[in-house]
Amino acid sequence: MKINRFIFAPMAVFACLTIHAETLPAPQTTGGMPLMQAMAERKSIREYDLSKPVTKQELSNMLWAAWGITHDGKHTIATAMNRQELSLYVITERNISRYNPEDNSLTVVNTGDFRELAGRQDFAKAAPVNIALVVDTAKQERLEFQAYTAGAASQNIYLYCASAGLKSVVRAMFNHDALPEALKLGPNEKILFVQTVAH
Ligand SMILES: Cc1cc2nc3c(=O)[nH]c(=O)nc-3n(C[C@H](O)[C@H](O)[C@H](O)COP(=O)(O)O)c2cc1C
Repeated sequence: MKINRFIFAPMAVFACLTIHAETLPAPQTTGGMPLMQAMAERKSIREYDLSKPVTKQELSNMLWAAWGITHDGKHTIATAMNRQELSLYVITERNISRYNPEDNSLTVVNTGDFRELAGRQDFAKAAPVNIALVVDTAKQERLEFQAYTAGAASQNIYLYCASAGLKSVVRAMFNHDALPEALKLGPNEKILFVQTVAH
């Protein structure tokens, strides 16, 4: 019995500490609304139908649109000097996870409902998905280039949402003090915007 406890107790601790990763469905990278129409329909929307969840497929498509890898290890958006300083964090009712574009997966970084921190406006706190657009300031030190990167990714999320019949709004209003901690960001990482997505 003693031996069993010695074997299983460390295994249980290890299981708790193991970083949980979830593979998303493959993104659908063809089709959708014609681009010109999606641009015409893009707008910020703050009223949602909360009875409809954002599906894993929609999440996968949206994250790919924002930061998927498309050519030579590069992304759907340009980054100055190819610094690739962006990371996307998905904030839901259940947890916060980091998007891994290399294998189209999510790594859970924190468990629990942190939506309260994702927005100072009530609609953001109730929405099924908020995406934090985070830049690594050590990879790209120039603010205008960081802002370009986050802005380009944000626009791709908006266009995907227009195409897929989802609603979205990008926001600078979030809890700037507490959200970085909830995301467990490193000292060089900074949240520029949070983008709400819902039906
Ligand atoms: C950098 C940036 C920050 C924004 N921050 C907020 C915000 O905190 N809350 C909000 O409701 N909308 C925010 N917005 C959305 C703007 O209010 C919206 O884009 C603007 O009213 C134009 O409307 P449209 O997006 O429908 O064209 C932000 C937009 C940008 C580009």
